[in-house]
Amino acid sequence: MVPSVDPPAPVLVEGELEYIVEKILDSRVSRWKLQYLVKWKGYAQEDNSWVFASDVHAPDLVRAFHMAHPGRPGSSACQFVSFCLLEALGRRGCTSVPLVRPSCKVFFAKDPIKIVCAKGQYMFDEKGERYLDCINNVAHVGHSHPEVTKAAVKQMELLNTNSRFLHDNLVQYAERLTATLPEKLSVCYFVNSGSEANDLALRLARQFSGHHDVITLDHAYHGHVTSLIDISPYKFQQLGKEAKKEYVHVAPSPDTYRGKYREDHPDPGTAYADEVKDVIKKAHQNNRQISAFIAESMQSCGGQIIPPPGYFQKVSEYVHKAGGVFIADEVQVGFGRVGKHFWSFQLQGEDFVPDIVTMGKPIGNGHPMSCVVTTKEIAEAFGATGLEYFNTFGGNPVSCAIGLAVLDIIEKEDLRGNATRVGNYLVELLQEQKEKHQMIGDIRGVGLFVGVDLVKDRQLRTPATAEAQHIIYNNSSSIGPKRYCPSHGMAQSLVLDWMSPDQHFNHRALRAALDRPAALAAILTESTEASDRKAAAF
Ligand SMILES: Cc1ncc(COP(=O)(O)O)c(C=O)c1O
Repeated sequence: MVPSVDPPAPVLVEGELEYIVEKILDSRVSRWKLQYLVKWKGYAQEDNSWVFASDVHAPDLVRAFHMAHPGRPGSSACQFVSFCLLEALGRRGCTSVPLVRPSCKVFFAKDPIKIVCAKGQYMFDEKGERYLDCINNVAHVGHSHPEVTKAAVKQMELLNTNSRFLHDNLVQYAERLTATLPEKLSVCYFVNSGSEANDLALRLARQFSGHHDVITLDHAYHGHVTSLIDISPYKFQQLGKEAKKEYVHVAPSPDTYRGKYREDHPDPGTAYADEVKDVIKKAHQNNRQISAFIAESMQSCGGQIIPPPGYFQKVSEYVHKAGGVFIADEVQVGFGRVGKHFWSFQLQGEDFVPDIVTMGKPIGNGHPMSCVVTTKEIAEAFGATGLEYFNTFGGNPVSCAIGLAVLDIIEKEDLRGNATRVGNYLVELLQEQKEKHQMIGDIRGVGLFVGVDLVKDRQLRTPATAEAQHIIYNNSSSIGPKRYCPSHGMAQSLVLDWMSPDQHFNHRALRAALDRPAALAAILTESTEASDRKAAAF
């Protein structure tokens, strides 16, 4: 959002105009970069007050540009000037702020990418440059999958309404989805994003339990709406100690690599569950009552954490005893990403069933849809309030048609089997790299949920935060696809969620790797060596 203040015109300091003209004369700045940067029209000054430097605010610069390049059309002159002004302000230590979503960072901000189309595992920029997409956890069955597109178009041509009308797609999708879950998870609520799903899950838990408080894991992220920032330590801890709300209780992440109880502990599952028991005890001592324990079935941006065996069973027991429910957030890790199971919570064994499961991201392969699935008892308690639940877009016929297509593709293309095969191969390649690079401390994952934990010291397991960031933000490989996009699933920037996305992508990536066996390993080597060099410079 743009602040509503009367912006003063930007003032150039001595030498700045010369610098800008110099920049203008430097034609190495590519056109796509200009196209991107022209969208950035708001600039902050040193004191963080706002200045709007739209093209009309810089007539002198436009004139200067025309003097230097008389043949160029005016619009590109304006773009150039915008860019140069931005750079000049940057040199003065000012930050630039985009007109749209000023708090949202673009990927690879120093050299951002403009993607114009994508197919399978590849994305293409406007110059036709191909990128191997290692960052996308949404295009689960591959970018622009024709079956998904076909299903969407077919239904859109026919009808799109809301769930106040009867429609077969809704019923069929609910049936297909619940068939992937244990029997007791039988009631669906269709919503539009992971955040909406988690927010509704909290409402269900509170209504059912009659309690308000929530236990969450350290480093957790569960969504961007107010109710979820409150229970996402990954976010609220950035706002300082005061930011934690009284109703929120943070339990340690069950991290057996760097946490309190590690792989050498005889029973880390019980030990970490006992921590939750203690959290409940302390809450009760303060007259607070627990409505829910919420956790991703495997923590993703919390550091690629695989809960130790027995952990969820015991936590569930303690939370139930306290009158609360267990919410499994499968927004990132659901829909077969782990390969051998459809849902990641199933890795804990058949004797564990959450009370509520939330889904999102891959569910619609990019179409905004999500879902909450719960038990009959919880749904009845929610309904008993008499308060109607209506969601304008949730469960519309088009979304459900897309959801059905995604489920079909996962099955038809054996993407779960693929996730296991490719995931194992990826881990093998990464293990080879671990032997070569001391910086790789740990490789952990299941299926295509794979993380590489970078360390400064293997013994001490000190997070190599800066090095990880170097790989994430500065890497640019000249091997295979011109550039690959690693993800930054991490706690304190320490874990690279190196190759996390859709199975279809990785299915093809496997083929690409088989065509050119050294490609994947070489990319990692290059990344690691680049950060070795960087580390040496620290
Ligand atoms: C684990 C988890 N839960 C919930 C969300 C929120 O989903 P959305 O961005 O669709 O609202 C995210 C998003 O990154 C997530 O990673």
